Amino acid sequence: MKRTLDQLDAIQLEGQRVLVRVDFNTPLHDGVVTDDARIRAALPTITHLRNHGARVVLLSHLDRPHGRPDPRYSLRPVQLQLERLLGAPVTFIEDPASDDAVATTKRLPRGAVALAENTRFHPGEEANDPAFSERLALLGDLYVNDAFGTAHRAHASTQGVARLLHPAVAGFLMERELEFLGRALDDPRRPFVAIMGGAKISGKIDLIEALLPRADSILIGGAMACTFFKAMGFQVGTSLVEDDKIDLASKLLDLAGDKLVLPTGAVIAERLASDAPTRSVSREEIKAGWAMFDIDEPTEVLFAGYIAAAGTVVWNGPMGVFETPPFDHGTVAVAQAMARATDAGTVTVVGGGDSAAAVAEAGLTDRMTHVSTGGGAALEFLEGRTLPGVAALDDVTDH
Ligand code: 3PG
Repeated sequence: MKRTLDQLDAIQLEGQRVLVRVDFNTPLHDGVVTDDARIRAALPTITHLRNHGARVVLLSHLDRPHGRPDPRYSLRPVQLQLERLLGAPVTFIEDPASDDAVATTKRLPRGAVALAENTRFHPGEEANDPAFSERLALLGDLYVNDAFGTAHRAHASTQGVARLLHPAVAGFLMERELEFLGRALDDPRRPFVAIMGGAKISGKIDLIEALLPRADSILIGGAMACTFFKAMGFQVGTSLVEDDKIDLASKLLDLAGDKLVLPTGAVIAERLASDAPTRSVSREEIKAGWAMFDIDEPTEVLFAGYIAAAGTVVWNGPMGVFETPPFDHGTVAVAQAMARATDAGTVTVVGGGDSAAAVAEAGLTDRMTHVSTGGGAALEFLEGRTLPGVAALDDVTDH
């Protein structure tokens, strides 16, 4: 068990500079944040610290600038959005490794917030360079990691600095993510139904293998279903298939038996375009020259039945090419079935990335028990891997 922010006494926060790693890796367009979900998700931690008289110093990366300053990846737009959300000024620190940065944090009044520029502008961040970690550690008196989305990276601001500053605890978002994803894995209300989609089986093999012994059913959608279809001996036309994974798909089918539930049919088209003519066919009838771009309606109904009867549902990966309507239909249907199930008492958890984006697009985020802010991190956690950013935090028994 990791130590958490709410286990710290008020006296440990009052007047202290609290270095908080957040994941403000948000989409931008023309210098404006287009989805501030990750910023809003960090507000409970920031607000708690401010209310306790702490001086809050935020660290984040944005995108992948490869260790060099690049104005396209500046956190300035995030600073503006954070100011809007907090209704308070946010001091911007141009370079977290500078002496100026240290001086700025020492001048911050109680309850004030500062945001440092993109940690990945320094090569030491991704290299987890001890010297860079030491510079970062000068910016705070204690450390909070609320960046679940980056917890699978062993970087200076997620792991290195946690070894240097203590207490080093999980923030509220991190705690919530670990609690919901952890409970789904370790103590799910049953039946436990996992839904997996996406283009490639290769990215999900570890997840399928990790969930097979735990889940009661695993529903498969997305183009990855076609690799299974091929393993079952069906023709899949021009659908995306990973030929080198067909043997593996066969093995998984044998191993999983009834647990693995594949689509019974597909929405197919000759090309991926919103105006392309489509057909709904059974999985035995995918035509030469046509490709599967979504699950069909009978499959939506089949999956909705599993979802309605579930005690816990964990979803990772879209059912079709949801960015290109009408091939978003199956993904939206799953999101709607999950929203209805939540209302009826099912624990519904959405792994981040594409599935979280699809749920947001459908306006259903608030109807899920938990939507993870982590894409890769949620996937690795569900695969049962240790997240370095979590492992580096204090254990409850340390204190
Ligand atoms: C994410 O968006 O998944 C996280 O912010 C991590 O980003 P990364 O994959 O560039 O490390």
